[in-house]
Amino acid sequence: MASLIVVGSQWGDEGKGKITDYLASQADMVLRCQGGSNAGHTIWVDGVRHALHLVPSGILNPDTICVIGNGVVLDLGIVLLEIKRLQDEGISTKNLVISEKAHIIMPYHFTMDDYQESLKGDKKIGTTRRGIGPAYMDKVARQGIRLMDLMAWQPFLEKLDYNLREKNEIFRRAGLPLIEGEIKERLIADFAVYREQIAPYVGETIYLVNEALAAGQKLLFEGAQGSMLDLDHGTYPFVTSSNTVAAGSCTGVGIGPTRIDKVLGIAKAYCTRVGEGPFPTELKDEIGDNLRNWGNEFGVTTGRTRRVGWFDSVVVRYSALVNGMTDLCLTKLDILDKLPEIKVCTGYSLTGHIVTKMPSTLEELAKCKPIYETLPGWLTDTTACRCFADLPENAQKYVLRLEELCGLPVSLVAVGPDREQIIVRHDLF
Ligand code: GDP
Ligand code: IMO
Ligand code: MG
Repeated sequence: MASLIVVGSQWGDEGKGKITDYLASQADMVLRCQGGSNAGHTIWVDGVRHALHLVPSGILNPDTICVIGNGVVLDLGIVLLEIKRLQDEGISTKNLVISEKAHIIMPYHFTMDDYQESLKGDKKIGTTRRGIGPAYMDKVARQGIRLMDLMAWQPFLEKLDYNLREKNEIFRRAGLPLIEGEIKERLIADFAVYREQIAPYVGETIYLVNEALAAGQKLLFEGAQGSMLDLDHGTYPFVTSSNTVAAGSCTGVGIGPTRIDKVLGIAKAYCTRVGEGPFPTELKDEIGDNLRNWGNEFGVTTGRTRRVGWFDSVVVRYSALVNGMTDLCLTKLDILDKLPEIKVCTGYSLTGHIVTKMPSTLEELAKCKPIYETLPGWLTDTTACRCFADLPENAQKYVLRLEELCGLPVSLVAVGPDREQIIVRHDLF
């Protein structure tokens, strides 16, 4: 087994960072393929918390090569800060390589993100305001600025001029501050510094990755966001602006789909969502508040409160389909430890019919009422369990029932944030 994709199977924050870090010890290369600093991946090792937005979660393993692929939109300020923070903690970043084809998030992308959200009013998406959508808009419009442009400098200045002409036109009409004169000069000066600081990490990554595969090395692809936030397959328009599903990993680093051996979907033992958009199993009661507090469900990137709900097997079955998942990893099982009863959504009731497939339109999804199966809780601390047999019987039954409902083997179960708090049922590499 040489290549494994890790993807979120719900709306993000499933624990991809923790699982990637755990699996990275068995991998030669860990790769981020899409998204940007909208991602917030948390890793706990020996009581120390690491929050990563752009640097792949393999970085804590000193021998693992970490690649930020062409499909990522790069906030240079954030990636450089992350590199510095890691170095201050004594973690080497010498194995980090960033694709010269990655697009750069520019200051005007933040303004555009804010502006678009404010124009939408109560229809806003609830973005992370990290400029992600506008940066991908420029990429698709074939006017984005890539890392290679910054490195060559003159193309950077030329492309910046074009983009500023266009953006200032919009800002002028919207009554927003223009990027010209001194502000433009400061922007250019900032990017001259970024250019110098990022230079040691910029490289060609397509051959690097494909040659590693050809040499039989083990590659681990770290998804960002979740499948229900996928631009094509999620709850559009309440999605992010990249393909978060497994296929996005291929385009995001330049490998073919024939090179992928396994796709591991990460699913929380319940469900959360940040931002706006439909969430059929959302809990707005005391149980939801408890799960939020026990699970510390507050965003890593924006600090926003995460919406909380029961596990939705319609969502995970659909995710399994659009990702071609081979395995599931269930995280945060321990957060359910204190519940006497646990509900699982098996299907939806839609205008008098039972549906077990994800409806295509938001209008239909909004009308869906979850159908629940109630399972007994286990009221036992699971955080010290290290093999499946250690889990209380009802916790085992819960895992096996989700396995049945999702039609996939649950190969890993996480019972705490720390690297060690994991139960391996089937080896993945
Ligand atoms: P990601 O974006 O998918 O990497 O997930 P986040 O890091 O945004 O959110 C997951 C949160 O749950 C983090 O605070 C993790 O430390 C924590 N976490 C991950 N797995 C477990 C687990 O099994 N149990 C508990 N209690 N916390 C976990
Ligand atoms: P990780 O990798 C959870 C959500 C935002 C918003 C929508 C669009 O940590 O799982 P964007 O800024 O991307 O234009 O926002 O997507 N979102 C996430 N939610 N986890 C994430 O990443 C997310 N990245 C984006 O909250 O609803
Ligand atoms: Mg996160």
